[in-house]
Amino acid sequence: MGVPSVDPAAADKTLKPSRPAISLVLIALSTSSVFYASLWRESPAGAQPPIGAQEPVRNPRLAPQRLNGTQPDRNSVANTPTPITQSPTYVGKQICKECHAENHRLHALHGHAHTFRAADEPEVAEKFSGRTYTTPEGYGTYTYQAGKDGLLARIPEKFGDQPFQLQFALGSGHHGITLLSLVPDPKEGTVGIEHRASWYRNGDQLGATPGQLHTQPETLSELFGQKHVGAVMRKCVDCHVTTGTIENQGIVNLTPNVNCEKCHGPGSVHVQQARSMDRPPPFSVGRQDWNAEAEIQLCGDCHRLPAAISQAELREYPKPLTRFQPIGLLRSECYLESEGQLKCTTCHDPHTTFTAIEPQFYVDKCVECHRAEPPETASAPESGPRTPQMGPVKSHTVCPVSATTNCIECHMPSTTIDDYGTEFHDHWIRIHPKS
Ligand code: HEC
Ligand code: HEC
Ligand code: HEC
Ligand code: HEC
Ligand code: HEC
Ligand code: HEC
Ligand code: HEC
Repeated sequence: MGVPSVDPAAADKTLKPSRPAISLVLIALSTSSVFYASLWRESPAGAQPPIGAQEPVRNPRLAPQRLNGTQPDRNSVANTPTPITQSPTYVGKQICKECHAENHRLHALHGHAHTFRAADEPEVAEKFSGRTYTTPEGYGTYTYQAGKDGLLARIPEKFGDQPFQLQFALGSGHHGITLLSLVPDPKEGTVGIEHRASWYRNGDQLGATPGQLHTQPETLSELFGQKHVGAVMRKCVDCHVTTGTIENQGIVNLTPNVNCEKCHGPGSVHVQQARSMDRPPPFSVGRQDWNAEAEIQLCGDCHRLPAAISQAELREYPKPLTRFQPIGLLRSECYLESEGQLKCTTCHDPHTTFTAIEPQFYVDKCVECHRAEPPETASAPESGPRTPQMGPVKSHTVCPVSATTNCIECHMPSTTIDDYGTEFHDHWIRIHPKS
C-alpha cells in the first residue's frame, strides 16, 4: 500500500486539541514491581507521586494555522530572504494552492503531507486501539483505548485503570507510526516521551520503537516511553512539522507536516509580488544561490547528512544507514564524478510521492548518464548549476551486465533494516559484492 490519499483540503486542517487529558497517578504503593521500587527511591519521602506524574498531562495547545508564523526557519538556503526590506512570514499551503494547484495536489499525496498528526485521529488510533503490546525489556504490557479522552495507553498489571495520554503521531504510516507525548518535568519544564511501541505497516503489527535506549526508568512516564529533552525533543518535532514551538505540554503556532514553506521558506513576500505582477522575482529554488549543494543540504537537514552520523558508522556503513539516503548518495561515484549534476531531484520530484513513480522512470535516469553514445553537444558547466543550453548531461560508462534494464535491483537494492521488514533503498550507488 502507498501513502494514504487524503482530501487535499482536509490536509491543511490543524490538529484538533485532544480532549481533557488525564493525569497518570500512582494508585498503589504496595506492589513488588522492580520499577516501583526504583521509582519510589527517586521520590524523597516515598509519598509523592513520581516525576512526570505530578501534574495532569495538559492539552496540547494547537493554534489554528494563520498568516502569523514568525519563527525564522533554519533552512538557511531556502530562507535567506530576497533583497526586500520586509521579512517574509508563513502564509500556509492553501494560499500556494491558488496559483500552484498541481504542486499542491501532488504534495497532498506525499509522505511529507502526513508525517505529524494528533494520535487520536481515527487513522492512527485504530492501529493501536484494542491491541496490547508487551515490551521485551519488562516495562510492562500496554493496552490501548481510543475514546473521547484521546488515545490512552495503560499498564493494567501495574496501574490498573490509570491512563497515559498519547498525544502526537509521527510518520505517515508508509513504514510506520511512532507516538510522542509532551509531559511536565520539574528540571526540564517539558520532556518528550517517545512511546516504546510503534505501529509497523509490514504485517500491520505493533513492535519496538527503533533506536531506543533501555535505561532504568526514573519516572512513571518512562515506563511508557523513552525520554527526550531539550534540543533532541525539539528537533524530533521540527523535522516533522513546518512551524511550531513547544510550550509547556503543547505546540504553539503549529503547522503540522513538511509543507511548501518548510522547503521554500516563508512565502508572504512572494505571494504579494505574484499578486501584483505576472512574473514575480526569483524565489527560493529560482534564486542564483540555489544549486545541487543547496538542495542536498535542504533534504539532508532532515534525511541526514554525514555530520549527523558517528565516524564509526560512516566508516562501516552498517545496513540501517540506508535509512539516511543522503549519506549513501554522497559517497556514490555517480555523485562524486558527475560535476554537480546528480542531486535528489534528479530522481525525485519533491512534490510527488515515490509510491506513484514507475520503476522504469529511475532506469531512464541511470541511462541518461550511463549510455553508449555521447551527444556532440554535451558539456559540463564551469561552475554553478547546469542550464538547458549546455545540452544533455555527459555520457558515462555503460554496464557490461545489463545496459538497459533493472539497474535498481543490482545497484540500489532494497535492504531490510529491522525485524519488522522495514525496507529502504541503498542510495550508495555501486557494484555490490553480491551482484
Ligand atoms: C523538514 C524535514 C524534511 C525535509 C527538508 C525533507 N524531507 Fe523528505 N521526508 C521527511 C519526513 C519526516 C518523511 C517521512 C514521511 C512519512 O512519514 O512517511 C520524508 C519522506 C520523504 C520521501 C518518501 C515519502 C514519499 O511519499 O515519497 C521522499 C522520497 C523524500 N522525503 C524526499 C525528500 C527530498 C527529495 C527532499 C529535499 C528536496 C526532502 N525529502 C526534504 C522530512 C523531510
Ligand atoms: C533530523 C530530522 C529528524 C528527526 C530529528 C526525527 N525524524 Fe523522524 N523522520 C525523518 C525523516 C527524514 C523520515 C523519513 C525516513 C524515510 O522514510 O526515508 C522520518 C521518518 C519517521 C517515521 C516514519 C517511519 C520511517 O522510519 O520512515 C517515524 C515514525 C518518525 N520519523 C518518528 C520520529 C520521532 C518519534 C522522532 C523523535 C524522537 C523523530 N522521528 C526524529 C526525520 C527526522
Ligand atoms: C521537500 C521539499 C519541498 C516541499 C515540501 C515543496 N517543494 Fe516545491 N520544490 C522543491 C524543490 C527542491 C524544487 C526544485 C525542483 C527542481 O529543481 O527540480 C521545487 C520546485 C517548486 C516550484 C517550481 C517548479 C515547479 O514544480 O513548478 C514550485 C512552483 C513549487 N516548488 C511549489 C511548491 C508548493 C506550492 C508546495 C506545497 C504544496 C511545495 N512546492 C512543496 C522542494 C519542495
Ligand atoms: C498569486 C499567485 C501565486 C501564489 C499565491 C504563489 N505563487 Fe509561487 N509563483 C507564482 C508565479 C507567477 C511564479 C513564477 C512562475 C514562472 O516564472 O514560471 C511563481 C514561482 C514560484 C516558485 C519558483 C520560483 C522561481 O523563482 O523559479 C516557487 C518555488 C513558488 N512559486 C512557490 C510558492 C509557494 C511555496 C507559495 C505559497 C507560499 C506560492 N508560490 C504562492 C505565483 C504564485
Ligand atoms: C548525473 C549522471 C549520473 C546518473 C544519473 C547516474 N550515474 Fe552512475 N555514475 C556517474 C558517474 C560520472 C560515474 C563515475 C564513472 C563514470 O564516469 O562513468 C558513475 C558510476 C557508476 C557506477 C560505478 C560505481 C563504482 O563504484 O564503480 C555504477 C554501478 C553506477 N554509476 C550506476 C548507476 C545507476 C544504477 C544509476 C541509476 C540509479 C546511476 N548510476 C545514475 C554518473 C551518473
Ligand atoms: C539515482 C536516482 C536517485 C537519487 C539521486 C536519489 N534517489 Fe531516492 N530513491 C531512488 C529509488 C530508485 C528509490 C526506490 C523507489 C521505489 O521503491 O519505488 C528511492 C527511494 C527513496 C526514498 C524512500 C525510502 C527508500 O529509501 O526506499 C526516500 C526517502 C528517498 N529516496 C530520498 C532521497 C533523497 C533525500 C535523495 C537525495 C539525497 C535521493 N533520494 C536521491 C532513486 C534515487
Ligand atoms: C544483474 C545485475 C545488474 C544489473 C541489472 C545492472 N548491473 Fe550494472 N553492473 C553489475 C555488475 C556485477 C557490475 C560489475 C561488472 C564488472 O566489473 O565486470 C556492473 C557494473 C556497472 C557499471 C560500472 C561499469 C564499469 O565499467 O566500471 C555501471 C556504470 C553500471 N553497472 C550501471 C548499470 C546501469 C545504468 C544499469 C541499468 C541500465 C545496470 N548497471 C544494471 C550488475 C548489474
